[in-house]
Amino acid sequence: MCGIVGYVGTEEAKDIIIDGLRRLEYRGYDSAGIAIVNDGSIIVRKHVGEIINLEKLIGNEKISGNIGIGHTRWATHGAPSDLNSHPHLNEANSIAIVHNGIVENYIELKAMLKEKHNVSFKTETDSEVIAMLIGAYYEGDLKEALLKAVSIIRGAYAIAAVAADNPNELVAHRKDAPLIVGIGKGCNFVASDFSALVKHTDDVYLLENDDTVILTRDSIKILDANEKQVQRTLMHIGWSAEAAEKGGHEHFMMKEILEQPAVVKETIKRRLNEDGIIEFDEIKIGLNELKSFDKIYIVACGTAYHAGLIGRYAIENMVKIPVEVDVASEFRYRNPLVDEKTLFIAISQSGETSDTLAAIKEAKGKGARILSIINVVGSSVARESDDVIYTWAGPEIAVASTKAFITQIVCLHMLSLYMGRLVGTISNRHYEEFISEMLKMPEKIDEVLANRSEIEEYAKDLYSREKVFYIGRGLDSAVCLEGSLKLKEISYINSFAIAAGELKHGTIALMDPDTIVIALATQDKLYEKMLSNIQEVKSRRAHVITITKDKNRSISDSSDETIYIPDCLDELTPLLSVVPLQLFAYYVAKERECNIDKPKNLAKSVTVE
Ligand code: AGP
Ligand code: GLU
Repeated sequence: MCGIVGYVGTEEAKDIIIDGLRRLEYRGYDSAGIAIVNDGSIIVRKHVGEIINLEKLIGNEKISGNIGIGHTRWATHGAPSDLNSHPHLNEANSIAIVHNGIVENYIELKAMLKEKHNVSFKTETDSEVIAMLIGAYYEGDLKEALLKAVSIIRGAYAIAAVAADNPNELVAHRKDAPLIVGIGKGCNFVASDFSALVKHTDDVYLLENDDTVILTRDSIKILDANEKQVQRTLMHIGWSAEAAEKGGHEHFMMKEILEQPAVVKETIKRRLNEDGIIEFDEIKIGLNELKSFDKIYIVACGTAYHAGLIGRYAIENMVKIPVEVDVASEFRYRNPLVDEKTLFIAISQSGETSDTLAAIKEAKGKGARILSIINVVGSSVARESDDVIYTWAGPEIAVASTKAFITQIVCLHMLSLYMGRLVGTISNRHYEEFISEMLKMPEKIDEVLANRSEIEEYAKDLYSREKVFYIGRGLDSAVCLEGSLKLKEISYINSFAIAAGELKHGTIALMDPDTIVIALATQDKLYEKMLSNIQEVKSRRAHVITITKDKNRSISDSSDETIYIPDCLDELTPLLSVVPLQLFAYYVAKERECNIDKPKNLAKSVTVE
C-alpha cells in the first residue's frame, strides 16, 4: 500500500522524489525515506511518521545527485520506526531498494542469507531481504542481480533499486503490486501511481506483472517475464497538477466533497451522445451476451461496496436480473456460484485493492465476464477486466472516499439504463425521464453543499458524543453504511449503521440520551415506516437528526434537527443524502482535531489481503 518514486535525470533527484512522495503520501504514512546516489556512494535519509518529518530531518542539507528512489510506508512487517523505514541497504551500503508489498518467504530467505552469505540484518522488515539478496548477487549488473533475487522471492512486490557504482541506471520490477513508468524529457521515472508524476509528465507506460524496467535518463527498456524486450501500452493520463493539489482548501477531503457536482456532471456528460443515448466506449458486451447472463455479482470493499449495494437496486429494477452484492474478502472464500452465465461487476476507486483483484481472479477462473467500475485509468483491476467503465472523478487523495463514491453510483445507474434499454426491460419514456432527472443532480448536490454551515453547527454541538447510529430503510440503509464508515474512519467515533426495521430486534436496547441517531427518511414509499422508527428512538430519548426530502417539512416535529435535501426521484436520493453525512463526518473530525486526510491505521490503496 506504500508509495514508491524513482527518478533518473539531470536535476536534483532529492527535490523531485520528495515532491512525488508528498503526492503519494495518501498511500501510506508510517514513514518516509529517500536514497540518492552521489559520487560512488548512497545517501539515505529516512524518518518515522509523515513526510514532513523527513523534510525537517533533511532541512537545508545539500544532498546532490541525479538519481534516486523514495518510499512512503504502510508497515506490514515491523513497527513504524526510523530503522524499519525504507529505503533499505545491503551490508556494504552499495545497493538501496524500496519495496511495496510483502515478501512472504522472508524468514526462510533471511536464514539462507545468514548461513550462506553471512549477512546480519538490522531491521524487522521483510523488505530488507531484498536489499541483501541483490547485494549478494550483484556483480556489476543491477538488473541481473534484481532478477535473480525476485526468482526466489514469493509474495507481492514492486521494487525499485539503485547501485552506488552506477549513477546512470535505475532498475525496477513488479509482481502483483502497482508500478508505472513516467516518460520525461531528459529524465525518466517509476512510481506506484500517476499522482507522483503529475508535475513532470502526462505519459506513462503501464508495467505488467513480472516486468522489469531499466531506466536511464534517456532510455526506457522494459523486459517481460522471459526477459524479452517488450513495448507496453502508452497511456496519456490527462490529470492536471492542480487536480492533485488542495487548491486553497484546508483538506483534500473538503475539496473533494465540493467537487462532487462537477464530477457527477462529467461522469454523465461523457457518456451521453447527441441524442441523449448512453454510450460506453469501454464496454464490449453485446445484446446476446447480456441476454445470456442469469445473475450478476457486484463485488467490492468499503465505500465501493456501499456503492454496489445501491447498484443492486438500480440493476434489479431496470434489468430484472438477480444481483448479489458481496465484500471481496468474503466472496472469494465462500465458493461462490459463478459460471459463464455470470456478469461480475467489480467496483474500486484505486483499481489496486488486493481483495477485489483476488475476487476477480476467482470469478474469471470460473468463466464469468468481468466488468469493472474504476477511477484510476490503467490500474490493475482495469487491466484484469473484460469491460471497464471509468468514473472520471479525477484524483481522489483523501483516504476517505467521497467523490469516487458518488460517481460510482452514477456509473451504476447509467449501466443499468444502458443494459435495460438493450434488453428491452425499460421503456424509452422511462429511460429518457430518468436521464433528464440525473442531469438535474449536479445542481441539487450544489444546493445541499450550500447549506454546509448548518451541518458544521450540528457537528460543533455534538462532536464529543461517542455513540452514533445511522438508521434507514431500502436505499437509505446503504447510504447509512457509508455515512457510518465515513464517521468511523476519520473521527474514530464508534458508529453503527442498521436497517431501521432491525432496530427492534436488539439494537434499540442501546438507545439513551447520549446517543445520536442520524435517520435517513428519503424514500417516499417507506416514509411512514421511517417516521415510526424515528418515534421509537425518540421515545428512548436519543438525539435525532433526520435527513429527508424538502417536501417532508412536517417531520421536523419528531426530530431534534432536520436536514432537507431537494426533492428528486427516490432512486437518486443517495447522490444527495450522502453529502450531509460526508460533511458531518468531516466537521466532527475537524472539531476532534483528527488527521482528516490521513486517518490513523489506514491507507488509500489497500494492496494487502
Ligand atoms: C473509503 O472511505 C475507505 N477508505 C475504504 O473503505 C475504500 O473504499 C476501500 O478500501 C476500497 O478501496 P477501492 O475503492 O480503492 O477498491
Ligand atoms: N512489507 C514492507 C514493510 O512493512 C513494505 C510495506 C509497504 O508496502 O509499505 O516495510
